[in-house]
Amino acid sequence: MEFHLTSISEKPYIISDPQSISTPRLLLFRDSFEFNIRKMGQLLGATEPTFDLNGLWSHAKTHKSSWVTQKLMDAGIHSFKASPNEVDMLVRAGAKGIFIAYPLLRHNAHRFSLLAASHRETTFYFQVSTKFHVDILLQAAKEVAVPLHYFVDLDIGLHRTGVAPSKAWQFFDSIPKNDSILFAGLHAYDGHNAAQDPEERRSRSELDMAQLKGVIHAFESRGQKVPRIVVGGTPSFLPDLDNLYRTSIDSEIIVSPGTWIYFDSWSKVLMPDTFEVAVCILAQVIDRVAPDTATLNLGHKRWAVDSGPLDCFSMMGMEALNWNEEHTIVKVPKNLKLPVGSYILMAPKHVCPTVNLWETFDVIDPDGRIEIRESPIDARNR
Ligand SMILES: Cc1ncc(COP(=O)(O)O)c(C=O)c1O
Repeated sequence: MEFHLTSISEKPYIISDPQSISTPRLLLFRDSFEFNIRKMGQLLGATEPTFDLNGLWSHAKTHKSSWVTQKLMDAGIHSFKASPNEVDMLVRAGAKGIFIAYPLLRHNAHRFSLLAASHRETTFYFQVSTKFHVDILLQAAKEVAVPLHYFVDLDIGLHRTGVAPSKAWQFFDSIPKNDSILFAGLHAYDGHNAAQDPEERRSRSELDMAQLKGVIHAFESRGQKVPRIVVGGTPSFLPDLDNLYRTSIDSEIIVSPGTWIYFDSWSKVLMPDTFEVAVCILAQVIDRVAPDTATLNLGHKRWAVDSGPLDCFSMMGMEALNWNEEHTIVKVPKNLKLPVGSYILMAPKHVCPTVNLWETFDVIDPDGRIEIRESPIDARNR
């Protein structure tokens, strides 16, 4: 059976035997998923020929899956960004580097330093932006007698975490310099740079990266090398990279988007010619209470509402009208026969929190066959 998500793709999504799938289900389309990995390599290389997937620390919070992590490692991505929730999964998967890009609390510092001590083959990176974080990192390093690596987190505009660029040197200077905690570089995540207009994102990136370069300069002028910088989410990593490579920087450049690997209907609006939506939800019509509406067998316990309702269905003119925990009521275009039991495929609007609402996903091969059933989303719910 072919499903057409016409607002985001010319290519049909094929599921050869939807009857064999109990719905609702989260499905990963392997051809689009592999396309995204190839496309990422091309986009990075087009920005700078020497830059490749090795410089991508893909954020694991999007997929939270050991199967996906393994595929990314097979493609040449060896280090990952993570929230505290994905760390165990990444360690089990054998990631070479894990950057826990989240402010440290004592419990996590203790837990992850024990992991760092028992998994010396993996480099753990922490982030600090206050004396509180530094103190607990020092304490954790003392307890395990393993050096712990840290990034100084900068607030370049998101105003969520991080030290102001103007105070970055003063803060760094106040951190005790010894062999127990080692400076890994600067983290400058620009999640605020997500405007729909690419030109707007480009000019915002100019401002944000200028702040970051100012901090690098402040460090270098005092004789302190910045080993690496970590920047970018999906909407901003390309302008950020372009910007950083236009000036010469001695630091290693790392980009850290997460959404790119699955993509979603909103990302398609922002970046139409880049990645494909690789993860969709298959649902069924369970009731028709009016000629122009249908009720689907899933609600917002299965799709994230934070970016607004689902807006990409495999039926032209379909639209979400109302939704509850377990039901979604959609508008059915006039004269469309849509019997109870009909299958509807839809693209998540915000894929990361949507994935977190599922226990498993099925992998669909390029011929539409189910290749893997119930692959666990093992890092969710922690
Ligand atoms: C710190 C951090 N880095 C990177 C990302 C990845 O951003 P995106 O999902 O837009 O690719 C996020 C997303 O929430 C984030 O919080």
